[in-house]
Amino acid sequence: MQDIETLETELLGEINAAQDLDALEAVRISALGKKGRVSLMMRGLGQMAPEERQQVAPKLNKLKQSIGDAIDAAKAGLNAKAMEARLAAETVDVTLPTRPEQQGRIHPISQVVDEITEIFADMGFDIAEGPDVEDDFHNFTALNIPPEHPARQMHDTFYLREKEDGNRQLLRTHTSSVQIRTMETIEPPHRIVVPGRTYRSDSDQTHTPMFNQIEGLVIDKKSHMGHLKGVLREFCRAYFEVDDVEMRFRPSYFPFTEPSAEMDIRCTFAGDHIKVGEGDDWMEILGCGMVNPRVLAHCGIDPNEYQGFAWGMGIDRIAMLKYGIPDLRAFFDSDLRWLKHYGFVPMDVPTLGGGLSR
Ligand code: DAH
Repeated sequence: MQDIETLETELLGEINAAQDLDALEAVRISALGKKGRVSLMMRGLGQMAPEERQQVAPKLNKLKQSIGDAIDAAKAGLNAKAMEARLAAETVDVTLPTRPEQQGRIHPISQVVDEITEIFADMGFDIAEGPDVEDDFHNFTALNIPPEHPARQMHDTFYLREKEDGNRQLLRTHTSSVQIRTMETIEPPHRIVVPGRTYRSDSDQTHTPMFNQIEGLVIDKKSHMGHLKGVLREFCRAYFEVDDVEMRFRPSYFPFTEPSAEMDIRCTFAGDHIKVGEGDDWMEILGCGMVNPRVLAHCGIDPNEYQGFAWGMGIDRIAMLKYGIPDLRAFFDSDLRWLKHYGFVPMDVPTLGGGLSR
């Protein structure tokens, strides 16, 4: 039988030399496994004379114990080393940007729509939508613009080809059509804003055939013009990011409101930018008024019970003025260099808390 001490030295040497857990496991099997060298020696005890066994057995037990302990210790050491290596390999540099470079940009119109809807959502308005391809009823008749009404000529409408039933659809000339769609499908009270594309056959330096509007509608039992003014003032302050704005309401005419007004705000024009709240200029920014009772009646709402106000505003111009964009037509050119210059970084979502435009 091999000398126990020699075997112990040999095995401890092998344990220390094991470079990884697999190698260590191989040493364990070769020593303590069923046919391992220590196990075979233990089995040999049976053939020994009692006196010899008494002498050898404690030594073998000690050997088994010390080899087992040495393997456990080596295992712990290798595990710790493996963990250290893994941690080193998986280090994350939290200072790196999330993407190498943000390439895309948010179009200024989308940015302004986000800003405006954020302001009105904060006041408790819902965002409503309607189709760009409309019918005559929703775009005109229900808004108190019957056929032959002169206001129809003012709208330079794009008509689609006549359908088999004789009806002609059209591209909506204003977002006011969504007032009707909302009131005829949902029970009052209403508090909505409607951003959307609108179309008129009109094209020059300040007009494009497609443009953007945002509509507002409030219908309740006691809503009045004072509320309208309060809502619009709050909107202007938030949108232009100033403490106060001076507003001017000029009497006007729209078939769907009575009385009607156009709203101007005091400002100065400095180059392509506008300064709101000071100066000697006035800028017209929207049309508004109390919803005409005939419009309510067209939508099945009792004008003796409900009343409210509405407004409609072009988005493109107030976007140009806020962000110093000199040419309206560039909005629709899809020029990537322009977009890179005037566009917004996608992660900077406008919020009232975090700042609309930063
Ligand atoms: N629809 C009008 C336009 O496109 C704007 C407008 C004026 C909308 C007064 C309204 C309103 O809701 O009350 O010129």
